[in-house]
Amino acid sequence: MSVIYIRGGAPLEGELTVHGAKNSVLPLLAACLLAGGPVTLHNCPRLTDVDAALAILRHLGCETKREGRDLTVDPTGAAGSAVSEEQMRSMRSSIIFLGPLLARTGEAHLTYPGGCELGPRPIDLHLAAIRALGCEVTEDCGIHCQGRPRGGEVYLSIPSVGATENAMLCAVGGAGATTIHNAAREPEIYDLQCFLNALGADVRGAGGSSVTVRGGLPLHGGEFTVMGDRIVAATLLSAAAAAGGRVRLRGVDWRHLSTVLSVLSQAGCHVISRTDCVELRRDASKPLRAVPTVRTAPYPGFPTDAQAPVMAALCASEGCTLFVETMFDSRYRHVAELQRMGADITTEGRVALVRGVERLHGANVEAPDLRGGGALAAAALGAEGVTALRGLKHIDRGYEDLEGMLASLGGGAVRREE
Ligand code: UD1
Repeated sequence: MSVIYIRGGAPLEGELTVHGAKNSVLPLLAACLLAGGPVTLHNCPRLTDVDAALAILRHLGCETKREGRDLTVDPTGAAGSAVSEEQMRSMRSSIIFLGPLLARTGEAHLTYPGGCELGPRPIDLHLAAIRALGCEVTEDCGIHCQGRPRGGEVYLSIPSVGATENAMLCAVGGAGATTIHNAAREPEIYDLQCFLNALGADVRGAGGSSVTVRGGLPLHGGEFTVMGDRIVAATLLSAAAAAGGRVRLRGVDWRHLSTVLSVLSQAGCHVISRTDCVELRRDASKPLRAVPTVRTAPYPGFPTDAQAPVMAALCASEGCTLFVETMFDSRYRHVAELQRMGADITTEGRVALVRGVERLHGANVEAPDLRGGGALAAAALGAEGVTALRGLKHIDRGYEDLEGMLASLGGGAVRREE
């Protein structure tokens, strides 16, 4: 079993370029199925979720090749339309193959996706979108969809990221015009639009709540650079807030982090946002201040994925911070682990009250999920002593070489096999 040992209590100092975004690269990989020739993605992070997506693509008949951070997918020979139960369970984002499969082959046979660690994660909106685009959906020992998509009106009752992406991908391959109403506005959806258009599609409006697609255009191969990961950046900035010091991050757009930066500024950090980087400074000799309320919301609100890392930073602060998680039912599983490190947190349903303590201490902790793992690493850097962080299978899904990133910012972090 692998363990990351993190020595905390010393300020961070350093600079790094944040790797490509997991939540962008996964839909982009699924979208490769729509291309007429090879596609190369640059800035593609080495993550186990990316490996899982590549395994699905190969199973469907694609050829894949990785050279460093460049990934090439050749979908020319892809003829499969079924994803196995094991592959579907390997990650939540496996459901994103539904739209592209229908667009490519006119059928899709999947099972329910895995990754229920945040509580129930239904896919009803994905299926409703597919039906609105003219495909037949049967749920019987799995999900079986038939029919060539055509244009239509898709109304999402919640601005779901995954359902918006699935609807876009299905609509691109179908004949006719589609409008997705109440679309999610996350930057990764804009990245997907840019990618599809780079291959010859006509998608407009991403980043706003209405996305239109003129479907049926033939897509060619091409290349594209994946956007930087704003949640990895939020995690590293939270670590710098917890430990103090000065950290500069490149490769992310600070505008994608504005709500996180606002909370960290209110807590007493000095944030400098430039076009090519974001820098956070915090005087380690002065405590952080609690902030009144952190409420998660769909973009451009405070990201649910940054809730745990920012909570980790605010555990050692003056005053009380109230967190309200509005997106998922079970997103406080990191709380019990932070308590092992001396945090004073009370939860009640989707609300958590953090009473700031003077300092956390190192402990044996286990990542309960992906972002909870990032949060524990951030907390450990601010804590006195050594933390042993286990549960790395969650962390490796979304942080490439977490210990290396922390070490390059001056944090004492090393991975060992036990
Ligand atoms: C995506 C992100 C995830 C992030 C989440 C919220 C990826 C790979 N994952 O997940 O990191 O935490 O957005 O920003 O990009 N819902 C339904 N029915 C559905 C779909 C969703 O009720 O069919 C609900 C969910 O339970 C949740 C809300 O809609 O309460 C938002 O979920 P959604 O945006 O779909 O999240 P994901 O796409 O799963």
